[in-house]
Amino acid sequence: MNIRIVLVLVSLVLSLVTGIVLSRGGSSGSTAKGKAKGKVVIGFSMDTLKEERWQADKRMFTEKAEALGAEVLVQSANSDDVRQVQDIEALISRNVDVLVIIPHNAEAMATGVEKAHQVGIPVISYDRLIKNADVDLYISFDNYRVGEEQAKALVALLPGGKGKIIRIYGAKTDNNAAQFKEGQDRIILPLVKSGDIQVIHEDWTEGWKPENAKRITQAAIAAHGTSFDGILASNDGTAGGAIQTLTEEGLAGKIPVTGQDAELSACQRIIAGTQAMTIYKPIHVIATAAAGLAVDLARRKPIIARTAVPNGKGDIPTNFLDIQVVTKDNMRDTIIRDNYHPEAEVYKGAAK
Ligand code: BGC
Repeated sequence: MNIRIVLVLVSLVLSLVTGIVLSRGGSSGSTAKGKAKGKVVIGFSMDTLKEERWQADKRMFTEKAEALGAEVLVQSANSDDVRQVQDIEALISRNVDVLVIIPHNAEAMATGVEKAHQVGIPVISYDRLIKNADVDLYISFDNYRVGEEQAKALVALLPGGKGKIIRIYGAKTDNNAAQFKEGQDRIILPLVKSGDIQVIHEDWTEGWKPENAKRITQAAIAAHGTSFDGILASNDGTAGGAIQTLTEEGLAGKIPVTGQDAELSACQRIIAGTQAMTIYKPIHVIATAAAGLAVDLARRKPIIARTAVPNGKGDIPTNFLDIQVVTKDNMRDTIIRDNYHPEAEVYKGAAK
């Protein structure tokens, strides 16, 4: 789509002048039909509402878009590619002005982008990148940094920074899972090379399901016993599954486990000492930013992207948002301060 070219050009020009691109303004050279006046209708196609965070994404995105005068039509595909394409078709047939997609499957959802572009609807890839498609804009948290911080936190908790670990990746179908792994690799692989770390077992978690992460941990123990020092789990759901197995083995709290998403149950486990850390990705930041960008795209206002990420089809204009490591020590300064979860809930059952 023309819009994408405008985004990249604007981004490059400003990068050259200022070194960083932060503002937006001016008018787009796009020839695609835009909505100058009238209510903007946004189609929001979600993979799933299963994990706690996606419910927050839905609520906060809709609230912000409505506050900006837009209407949001939401579909959730229950982790089913066929259904997600149908959802997108249904949203297109309801004449949405812009589509925001959280793909279940990075590759499969290229079809949805093509269908939208055929009728001049721009597409934002939300949190997860759609591969091999001419996506107009990608907005996410810095997923490589997520992986790096998870790995650094785990290494810091290994005796002398050395030991045997289990690695539990996310869903193979999710490009984020690959980005988390790549970030982790940057820290872990040099230590594997130097002999400080040994990865005794690693696997991808189909569908990001906690029960699959539990099975991966059981398989690791069946093959190698319980003499390992840490579990590098890619999100709180998989951490929860792994910790169930550790609990059954009497090891919960003795082996550090990483996570991501700052789910309430994970924050409680951190306070209880059975999970070492999580990554806090403030959902209101991505949801409100994406809602604003969706309205601007629908109105064909120029968007400034700070970076670009290759997706197999080209370099997609991208905005990466910041993340924070959360441990027992800074729980109050992060999760509680932002009222992400109520203090009484996070510390429920905790010893005074
Ligand atoms: C998201 C994570 C989430 C995972 C499972 C990833 O794409 O970035 O926040 O935990 O999907 O839903």
